[in-house]
Amino acid sequence: MNAPTSTSNPHSGEAAEPIVWLNGELTPLCEARVPVLDRGFIFGDGIYEVVPVYALEAEGAEPGAGKLRVPFRIAQHLARLARSLDKVGIANPFDEAGWRALIARVIEANEAAGALARDAHANVYLQVTRGVAKRGHAFPAGVTPTVLVMANPLVMPGAAQRASGVACVTAEDRRWLNCDIKSTSLLGNVLMAQNAAEHGVFETIQLRDGWLTEASSSNVWVVKDGALYAPPRSNKILEGIRYGLVEELAQECGIRFEAREIDEAALRAADELLVTSATKEILPVVELDGQGVGSGKPGPVYAALYEAYQRAKAREARAVFAAREALAACK
Ligand code: PDD
Repeated sequence: MNAPTSTSNPHSGEAAEPIVWLNGELTPLCEARVPVLDRGFIFGDGIYEVVPVYALEAEGAEPGAGKLRVPFRIAQHLARLARSLDKVGIANPFDEAGWRALIARVIEANEAAGALARDAHANVYLQVTRGVAKRGHAFPAGVTPTVLVMANPLVMPGAAQRASGVACVTAEDRRWLNCDIKSTSLLGNVLMAQNAAEHGVFETIQLRDGWLTEASSSNVWVVKDGALYAPPRSNKILEGIRYGLVEELAQECGIRFEAREIDEAALRAADELLVTSATKEILPVVELDGQGVGSGKPGPVYAALYEAYQRAKAREARAVFAAREALAACK
């Protein structure tokens, strides 16, 4: 099937309508519809993923060859999607190769429609709900999952925000105890994000009974005396794809990492605080509840990990390029 043409002219300066993939069809976002009885709408009964797909120059590529699409840590994102679906008993509609091909197709469709510049990083959103059925809480029999894939320009913190760091507030974590499932039932997280917005800060960092869990849409890291700490993987936090990545980057940088429970006093006594997510990469927190964190400026552990993060992106770009060259050599 060919991608539908955009409803607006990509050369007119008017924003082109994004193209989404919904249940087997590429369709303009403004025309995409799901029935009101979709359990994603009725119960928040669904799973999602957010994958950064960078547009990067590949070392070794011909000058002028253009940027490569690099779906960053895609295997880990798709493995987490499979795990979350499995935990809530929704059949995974695709295998890894199927998801990869679908993501590439949605990106191409948006590039062709002028909704995504070829050299712009993309934020790919995947959602699978249990499907459409007469309202009733328990799983209905014989329903087909609803599948949505979107690819929007990736909006990341700007250089000024990275240079100055961000402010956060704390609040009690009142969410359910299945935070390891990347569920679309995000009301608890939505309320925490709204709490941050109302305080005019970047994120709300949550504590459950006095122990650090995570922020409304990011994992939280504490630096003390040159070592890096994060709450252990458990049902109380979402294991971010950057959780494993930052562990690797810390090792690469010679920074000691320990997963351990962090109490409120240790959080407030941090030398540096960091948040990580697909859309933020790694970002320094310099103010917590109106008090400066450490020196009140982004610190050396942040700087080292941020640089290492950029090197990890370049490594993945080289791997994508090498795989493409190997494929071309076989033809
Ligand atoms: N959120 N914890 C929560 C509650 C999150 O929502 C996220 C990411 C993370 C970090 O996970 P990762 O490193 O895989 O992005 C941790 C995404 C970006 C979102 O909901 O838009």
